[in-house]
Amino acid sequence: MHKDAAHAGQAIYTPLTLALYDQAVLGVSCRGLWRCPSHELLANYQRHIRPDHLDVGVGTGYFLDKVSFSGRAPRIALMDLNPDSLSACAKRIRRYQPVTHQCNVLEPVTFPGERFGSLGMNLLLHCLPGEMSDKACALDNLLPLMNPGATVFGATLLQGGVERSVMAKGLMALYNAKGVFNNAGDSLAGLRHELECRLDTVSVKAVGCMGGLVERCGSLILFRLSADRIQQKRLPLGAFLRSCQRSVIVTARAVYVAVFFFFG
Ligand SMILES: C[S@@+](CC[C@H](N)C(=O)[O-])C[C@H]1O[C@@H](n2cnc3c(N)ncnc32)[C@H](O)[C@@H]1O
Repeated sequence: MHKDAAHAGQAIYTPLTLALYDQAVLGVSCRGLWRCPSHELLANYQRHIRPDHLDVGVGTGYFLDKVSFSGRAPRIALMDLNPDSLSACAKRIRRYQPVTHQCNVLEPVTFPGERFGSLGMNLLLHCLPGEMSDKACALDNLLPLMNPGATVFGATLLQGGVERSVMAKGLMALYNAKGVFNNAGDSLAGLRHELECRLDTVSVKAVGCMGGLVERCGSLILFRLSADRIQQKRLPLGAFLRSCQRSVIVTARAVYVAVFFFFG
């Protein structure tokens, strides 16, 4: 059952949807729906990536392309269940000559070669089926590939313990019904618990409904929750009209994202 669910979590990524992904997901959804603009995610990459990096659940490779490395050319390995994601990402960062490996991270991963100093798992966990404890098997499978003291980082969309707008709740329910997301039981407390079971130092900060994670095998992380609250107050006419205009724009963007997922 989990095999089918794992398949559903990656099946949406085709050459066509990958061509739209950066704009629709990293542009519109991250800022407008999940309240975590992609520059926050890029900053997380920039802060924690090391020159010997393993990226898992790679998508289009947007962040690997934008991040900068100082010093020697980095050694980068890419892992993903979906061959289209793997080839789109590898093509985008071909200047680094990445090694690719197709695998399901919920199953044991064998990877010959040197270990890594950083592991990126960005926007992956909410695609994986099961409870947070099932998803954490991905860490059990990947941590043996890491050097002592390595950093693990990324972000995932949560439902529990974070503030979500009505629109975010609706879209998440829709994506869960389609099997694109599997985060109905994902909470900040659950994420923190699974990380703390496996890592010495864990730092998690919630931005909108995104739970970022950073862990070091040897030292660890922080938790910060900055909720996105909607203020209920009387607005003068000008502000009311501007608010209506914003709602129309957000709705149009949500429809665009929904169309992307349903018909892409
Ligand atoms: C939402 S995209 C994230 C892309 C990228 N990391 C980013 O931050 O934009 C999720 C990626 O995880 C991959 N994926 C989903 N389930 C997987 C699994 N069980 N094992 C490996 N990769 C998986 C998908 O194919 C897709 O490339």
